[in-house]
Amino acid sequence: MVRLQFVNTSRFGIMRWKSIAPIQNTVSRYPIIWTRNIAVLTEDMKKDAEIHGGLKSMDSLPGPRTFPILGNLEHIRTKFMKMHITQLKNAKKYGPMYKDKLFRNNAIIVQDPDICKEVYRAEGKLPHRDFSISLREFLKAREKMQLPKSLLDLNGEEWAELRRKFHKKMLAPINMKMFYPQFSDVAVDAVECIRRLRDENSIINDVREEVLGKWALESIGKFVYGFRTGLLDQTLTDENKRFYEGIKIVLTNAIFLSRAKWLKYIFWKAYADLNKGMKDWHAIGMKNTKKVMEQVKNAEEMGKTLEDSIANSLTCYLILTKNMDFNECSVHAIELFGAGYDTTSITTSWVLHWLGMNPDKQEILYNEVIDRIPEDGRITDAAVQRMPYLRACIKESARLTPMIFVNMRSFPEDMVLRDYIIPAQTPILLSNYNMGRDESIFPNANSFMPERWLRENKEEDEIHPFTTLPFGFGARSCLGRRIAEAEMQVFLAQVVRQLKIKYIGEEQEGDNIFGITLPKSTFAFYDR
Ligand code: HEM
Repeated sequence: MVRLQFVNTSRFGIMRWKSIAPIQNTVSRYPIIWTRNIAVLTEDMKKDAEIHGGLKSMDSLPGPRTFPILGNLEHIRTKFMKMHITQLKNAKKYGPMYKDKLFRNNAIIVQDPDICKEVYRAEGKLPHRDFSISLREFLKAREKMQLPKSLLDLNGEEWAELRRKFHKKMLAPINMKMFYPQFSDVAVDAVECIRRLRDENSIINDVREEVLGKWALESIGKFVYGFRTGLLDQTLTDENKRFYEGIKIVLTNAIFLSRAKWLKYIFWKAYADLNKGMKDWHAIGMKNTKKVMEQVKNAEEMGKTLEDSIANSLTCYLILTKNMDFNECSVHAIELFGAGYDTTSITTSWVLHWLGMNPDKQEILYNEVIDRIPEDGRITDAAVQRMPYLRACIKESARLTPMIFVNMRSFPEDMVLRDYIIPAQTPILLSNYNMGRDESIFPNANSFMPERWLRENKEEDEIHPFTTLPFGFGARSCLGRRIAEAEMQVFLAQVVRQLKIKYIGEEQEGDNIFGITLPKSTFAFYDR
């Protein structure tokens, strides 16, 4: 239990609630007892600092050498593709909180779970996220289509009101249960797809591109529309090809072109592809929404009962219980495909990497799965509950190689964090990657040891809850978390049960592209 006391914690005479000592109960490795909570910088604090000293400017934070326009040359030398590795090296030199620069932009990198906790807790009920920077070109292209605003466009009360509409359906574990067997059917088809695409040496060159991306979208389709879209079929329809290519091109090009406003004038082909991809993705997404709407309308008019899977779909839920119209349902459904496509496929590809590199751990997982899988081979939520090693493998992979290597936060006002003044809007990068590789937090940090997450293991009790947060934290954390977990659990159980996985290549650190840690994904899959 965390005990709170109203105390004068600072030289500035500011009274605030503090957690005292007890963090030790849960987090024995981090006995930080007196920490100044992150707080908005007030005029009083400034005055006190002038009189007594104490507050330091962000410039005095330690950090690598940077240059006015170019920023940190190491990022340029590594073509911005090894930022996670550079950060890890810097963490060793500069400690738990340091400053860095990406071109002109200052940022703070944090790799201490206690400081991360303070930052996450400070964001309150309406965390602000500005996607207009990283996804500007996507949002603009969508604006041209005159569609309603979505979770990505919105902030403040408007965002909170919209997000509440999805909570029960997407985040309540009880509602996710029914999707396990459905995701299991999709996973069986994905395993068949792997079998089909293997060469004569059982190798697939890029399983993420050839199978995992389509499997992730097909699973989301089942949740969102309640029917199969056919992305794992042997021959893709022309429509499905356009849908898949559309999502891929939009995500890649939008993130690239959003980096600077002038890029679209030079890379005009990328810009044209982005707009074409948007049209294809949205047109086909809207066609699918229409299909659900028609079925709901027909059922109502003719007094028929809806097919179970359609009745349980997100679209049906939004129409019937949230009164959303066609455009609203379409835009939210389409957005979920974008949010869940590369996140889930990349994260899963990393788990396959670690299992492929560690045959002994893969064997433990195999034994667990065949022991607990239901007789008909359809994996239920109850079956997964009895597979702790499976869940531990996913967690351990996310610790070693989180797909999103930093969670970002920024505040609209100047803040004080550990006596440093952090100017408003400065990105604070909370480094999942660095904390995951910290030996003082995780002994044998570079080894794949799922056992450390098992309940019976003492280490599990001591792991600070803010070290491994692949889905973010708080009010704005990942809305698709339960879906992604369910998809990955049933897919990995189905693969391991039927195939032996071997990663082709050395242990890899992956490239970091636009903040995403991207693995190579060449694997051999041998029949068991
Ligand atoms: C393993 C897969 C996934 C990972 C690692 C992941 C990770 C994340 C992270 C880190 C955030 C930001 C959280 C924060 O800042 O605190 C996020 C937001 C979000 N994710 Fe995911 N995600 C995954 C899968 C999905 C899926 C499958 C969906 C949808 C079906 C989804 C929908 C969303 C949405 C809508 C948001 C924005 C929420 C908001 O702004 O209110 N994600 N995700």
